[in-house]
Amino acid sequence: MNWPLWVGLPLLVLLYYASRKRTQPQSVQQVPSAVATSALKAKQTYDAFLVVDVEATCEEGKNFAYPNEIIEFPVYLMKWKDRIGGQASQLEIAAEFQTFVQPTWRPKLSKFCTDLTSITQEQVDAAPRFPEVLRSLRAFLVEHGVLEKTGKRRLKFCWATDGPWDVAEFVVKQAFISQIPVPDWLAGEALDVRQLVRNHLASNSKTVRGNLNISAQLGALGLPPFVGREHRGSDDAQNICRILQKLATEQVPIRPNLHINLRRRWAWMGKSGQILEDKI
Ligand SMILES: *[C@@H]1O[C@H](CO)[C@@H](O)[C@H](O)[C@H]1NC(C)=O
Repeated sequence: MNWPLWVGLPLLVLLYYASRKRTQPQSVQQVPSAVATSALKAKQTYDAFLVVDVEATCEEGKNFAYPNEIIEFPVYLMKWKDRIGGQASQLEIAAEFQTFVQPTWRPKLSKFCTDLTSITQEQVDAAPRFPEVLRSLRAFLVEHGVLEKTGKRRLKFCWATDGPWDVAEFVVKQAFISQIPVPDWLAGEALDVRQLVRNHLASNSKTVRGNLNISAQLGALGLPPFVGREHRGSDDAQNICRILQKLATEQVPIRPNLHINLRRRWAWMGKSGQILEDKI
């Protein structure tokens, strides 16, 4: 069909203005925010993080080779608040799990231990033992959609701790003492937050001094001081959450950097849960 020129030209002009009207306000609003989004958010491939900081029995003068028994097991579930297309910068605490744990090999806490952790004998005496704590923790993770009812992972998550000890050492030792296997959902890959902070500071050419404990990490990241009491598991864990939140806003990809070796053994480990006192 041949349109006469006097119809076609005004029609083209009209279409041109109509299309400008439609697209202009959008382009003004969208372009800068899209640019800002990709500039401020890192690609985050994990859905959730389980921040845990256990406290365990300890004796003055003994190091981490000791058969420490877990006495506090706090877990904070952190999820992204703003993840779109895999990019995110805001982590928030979605739920918390809090419990003391009753030790069984040496049920009496040393003064050194109660002074260090502020956890009392009464608190651990009244607490469930480790196998029961794992059952409650599993129920908590199912309730919050982290695990399927079967115990299979529903979200892509990893355990996050200050240093490599909490899951890879304390949980492995405790499972041995309790004579139970470490569940699949507590094994696999984990995140050593302290190492992540160390790498982040190094990549920004900041000098890292000392052992970089939680307080030192907060300071190095320019955050306000430690909130609560150091060496209380729940307080330590909440401060680790603050550190992860800060790293997330600084576009650090948050993902595992540590493998949990369930076959790890210590000299005092005898046959089937037996503790060889002369090897401690
Ligand atoms: C953390 O390390 C700093 C030195 O970097 C030290 O002064 C402080 O006592 C340490 N805190 C704990 C709880 O060990």
